[in-house]
Amino acid sequence: MLVTSMELLVDARKNGYAVGAFNTNNLEITQAIIRAAEVKQAPILVQISAGALRYAGVEFLPLIVKKAAELASVPVAIHLDHGPDFTAVMQALRAGFTSIMRDASKLPYAENVAEVRKVVEACHAIGVPVEAEIGKIGGAEEHVVVSEREATMSDPDECAQFVADAGFDFLAVAIGNAHGFYKGEPQLDFARLEAIRDRVSIPLVLHGASGIPDHQITMAVERGISKINIDTEIRNAFIRSTQEYVAANPDQIDPRKVFKPGIAAMQAVVEHKIEIFKSAGRA
Ligand code: G3H
Ligand code: ZN
Repeated sequence: MLVTSMELLVDARKNGYAVGAFNTNNLEITQAIIRAAEVKQAPILVQISAGALRYAGVEFLPLIVKKAAELASVPVAIHLDHGPDFTAVMQALRAGFTSIMRDASKLPYAENVAEVRKVVEACHAIGVPVEAEIGKIGGAEEHVVVSEREATMSDPDECAQFVADAGFDFLAVAIGNAHGFYKGEPQLDFARLEAIRDRVSIPLVLHGASGIPDHQITMAVERGISKINIDTEIRNAFIRSTQEYVAANPDQIDPRKVFKPGIAAMQAVVEHKIEIFKSAGRA
């Protein structure tokens, strides 16, 4: 069933688990995510970036996700990932999104607050919750490109001030996480996360979770992370498994057969993450 992210993430924060937020670009990824959530009886967010909307069409991809959510046996929210501006947010609301991120984290503090407040006013008027970010998460996720030098961790006091000043619902934190695959093993700053959790009562979000070892994910969930974003590992599973299938079956030209192992591989990734996030059986 289609829900907003508010009920999902408030329950997650209260009960010490995290809801997975998985990125989709098309029908096949959407099916893999929803099937995994149903197998695991887990609440879930399916998230769509501005780049995905450009790729698949703003009138088209949200309709697929929305219908899949309505038909699902588990609660599903449709989330705008890294909303780049007010226009993208308005397009998403019009398309029926039930959760919005406005990412103005690259802007100076006062402008970040002003941008987020504008979006909060519009979204809250129709009951849609808003995620915002402070600090700069390293790595690349479409238009969000932050070099190692530019990356800055979230300051716990500034996090509390940001929540109070901008009035949004979920806070994305930079604690050593980065978008895309990591070069070595990432080291999340758990002391920083604990300090943020102690100052901020709203649900906290971990971006760039692909490649973070399971034991660090467990520690993050135990310290108040309530939403965890995964994109790269899903893409990787799809492409690697499709490459293998095509190499083994060079004459197969039926896309339905070619995509099948890729869908299964993505579903397996999502099922595993749901277990690690402790959201299995929470639907
Ligand atoms: O917003 C999306 C995510 O933060 C995904 O990050 O591609 O590193 O899994 P990832
Ligand atoms: Zn992200």
